Amino acid sequence: MSAAVSTPPPSTSTAADVLLRTEGLQVHFPITQGLIIERRVGAVRAVDGVSLEVRRGETLGLVGESGCGKSTFARAVIRLVDATAGRILFDGSDITSLHGDGLRRIRRRMQMIFQDPYASLNPRMTIGSMLAEPVRLHRIASGAEAEKRVKHLVELVGLPRNAINRYPHEFSGGQRQRAGIARALAVQPEFIAADEAVSALDVSIQAQIVNLLSDLQREFNLTYLFIAHDLSVVRHISDRIAVMYLGEVVELSLSKELYDRPLHPYSIALVSAVPIPDPKVESRRKRMILRGDVPSPANPPSGCRFHTRCWLRRELGDPERCTTETPELRELVPGHAARCHYAEELLGRDRREKLVEVAASHSDPRDADEETVTAPDAGPAEDQTVVPGDPLHP
Ligand SMILES: Nc1ncnc2c1ncn2[C@@H]1O[C@H](COP(=O)(O)OP(=O)(O)OP(=O)(O)O)[C@@H](O)[C@H]1O
Ligand code: SF4
Ligand SMILES: [Mg+2]
Repeated sequence: MSAAVSTPPPSTSTAADVLLRTEGLQVHFPITQGLIIERRVGAVRAVDGVSLEVRRGETLGLVGESGCGKSTFARAVIRLVDATAGRILFDGSDITSLHGDGLRRIRRRMQMIFQDPYASLNPRMTIGSMLAEPVRLHRIASGAEAEKRVKHLVELVGLPRNAINRYPHEFSGGQRQRAGIARALAVQPEFIAADEAVSALDVSIQAQIVNLLSDLQREFNLTYLFIAHDLSVVRHISDRIAVMYLGEVVELSLSKELYDRPLHPYSIALVSAVPIPDPKVESRRKRMILRGDVPSPANPPSGCRFHTRCWLRRELGDPERCTTETPELRELVPGHAARCHYAEELLGRDRREKLVEVAASHSDPRDADEETVTAPDAGPAEDQTVVPGDPLHP
């Protein structure tokens, strides 16, 4: 177990404020070999020691590149996949190994909304029967009372009344996502994990669904874990944001603070790539390009997992510590933590801006020489991963 696994998350909240808490949560998927006798030859360390709190009524945003473990983390906390190690506490109770009735009871309180509602809605069921099913199954209501509840759910999420008798394929993507939200709400949950819930939608529809989720949160005091690769969407809805890299949380802070003053070199690269609507500001801005392939979660780099792509390490003359010593997630200012030995270098505004400017000028494809960097529209060079406008899904 690395030092990072036992690191407590930065927090000033009391136990009563916290609805969900993970302690050193690990989810490893075995890699096996052999057709007749299967041998375990390794493991994909999808989630590798994540300690996080989600406070009652808040939205915790979770961002990071494809494959960094966001979905696996969400699936583990709502107990769709088993934890390899660590603990999950919901409302103060350890739910890590719950089974049977205990798990069913807790499932009612935790729901998930998926990226593709079409895949999670039964195409042969009308929206009405799909919503009535969990209401009856969890004995929330029956008979006329259940029908009333279904009508109420349909209205709550802004679907037309006649949606009750229609099938998922009759709806647009945004409407289907509304149906997915209604289904999650049917069992009156307290916690919802929204996994890329708006990522497949057009920008204008995204905003409508995000607003709907915010309204519902206020009305029912819901707590959200909101996963998205679009940093601007996460910013809009999140109170706090956790940034993941290769199975670990590398930064955790208030949403605004993360955008104003990211303290991990990885987050700085992500934030630098979020497009700014003002074309003048956008054209002057330096982008940070992350070089190097994303390492395999089956064989993460030694020391700091980000060291193979870290621009700050290069600017600091490649200190050995980055490759030999695992950094902990440290609180650097109240409520703001980063997993970097040298995050203090980025605390002071002048020093940070200087470092970022120099590193970005080495990496921005608009400035750099063609031998070392390739412009985003030309595709990444062999030894580079380019972070263009959409930083997490290039
Ligand atoms: N059931 C599984 N068996 C084996 N490996 C898995 C399984 N589920 C996920 N993984 C691996 O675990 C790692 C994390 O995957 P995960 O889906 O959690 O990432 P993600 O951050 O949600 O990515 P994306 O942004 O693409 O959705 C990946 O390397 C993935 O291939
Ligand atoms: S510990 Fe080193 S490699 Fe890791 S983020 Fe900090 S400077 Fe970069
Ligand atoms: Mg995912």
